[in-house]
Amino acid sequence: MKTKTGERGASILGLGRALPERVLTNRELETMVDTSDEWIKTRTGISERRIADEHMATSDLCEEAALQALQRAGVPGESVEMIIVATVTPDMVFPSTACLLQDRLGAEGAAAFDLQVGCTGFIYALAVADKFVRSGAYENILVIAGDLLSRITDWEDRSTCVLFGDAAGAALVGPTSEAGILGSYLGTDAKGAHHLKMPAGGSLHPACTETVEQRMHYLRMNGREVFKFAVTAMGDSASEAVRRAGLTFDDIDCYIPHQANIRIIDASAKRLGIPRDRVYINIDRYGNTSGATVPVAMAEAWEEGVIGPGDNVLAVTFGAGLSWAAAVIHLTEELKNR
Ligand code: ACO
Repeated sequence: MKTKTGERGASILGLGRALPERVLTNRELETMVDTSDEWIKTRTGISERRIADEHMATSDLCEEAALQALQRAGVPGESVEMIIVATVTPDMVFPSTACLLQDRLGAEGAAAFDLQVGCTGFIYALAVADKFVRSGAYENILVIAGDLLSRITDWEDRSTCVLFGDAAGAALVGPTSEAGILGSYLGTDAKGAHHLKMPAGGSLHPACTETVEQRMHYLRMNGREVFKFAVTAMGDSASEAVRRAGLTFDDIDCYIPHQANIRIIDASAKRLGIPRDRVYINIDRYGNTSGATVPVAMAEAWEEGVIGPGDNVLAVTFGAGLSWAAAVIHLTEELKNR
């Protein structure tokens, strides 16, 4: 399929999302650590988050989100040629979660790999899929972002445990009649890498009694430093992605920012001059679900009729690395109507 300019277009053909049923409220957190519903709401914008049952793994949520995206796109699993899973909580170190899904989705012989850039992972994976489809090498690529952050959250650390939740979101990327991913901008600044990490479990500090005793298998974060980085990174990367798309902020129909903190969302929207009614926000219900925030929000916005074919969506994220990623996504007529 060729666009008007003769190039091959690529965009999102279907969106899906999966959230665990169990809701963990701020009130419940008050009984677990020294915090309050009021502090969490005013400092983060979060009221509740979803937590996976103990028998679940990241692949379970990813599978549910992927099946929904495929069903909505009207594309069977066997037509999927590549699966990319963005996650920092894979089912296990290897094989990749994408490989596990290949079999379960019936995507026979599909290329499958995980991509690990924390919260920015979905947009990184989307950019990779876009290139493969536009080059003509692949037709249908499943881009999935899923994490069970509850498994690496220190439930005794009030400075982090109030922030996170579990979720997965998926997008099927395929050929379209118009250009879809109009512009993207990915980057990192590893000088801040130590501000956000899970110290043990890799080759540097393999699991041992000491790493467990020192609680090194949990996410550690310097919130204030990440906050400062986020406000600048979101503004700069959004501006660059819009510039690369050849658009202005007036052309953006919906801004979908990483749902990490309502104050970061508001500060970035203000800096970019995007009015609140064009910003999609669901942090109050799900908290920060890592790479899943953007596809879950996109799927929800599509279900609610907030976005649809013809719209330009600006998605912007930041996360471990420290990394940033922004993309302007034009939704084409191939995204099936609800
Ligand atoms: N309940 C009550 N008080 C708390 C809590 C809590 N849950 N957590 C911290 N506090 C206290 C602190 O101890 C501190 O008290 P002190 O002044 O007596 O020392 C006070 O609240 C203020 O602490 P700050 O850290 O300055 O609070 P801040 O306003 O910066 O908010 C927060 C903290 C919410 C973590 C914020 O810095 C933030 O959102 N940072 C960005 C985090 C982020 O976006 N991470 C995303 C990357 S990770 C990922 O996406 C997977």
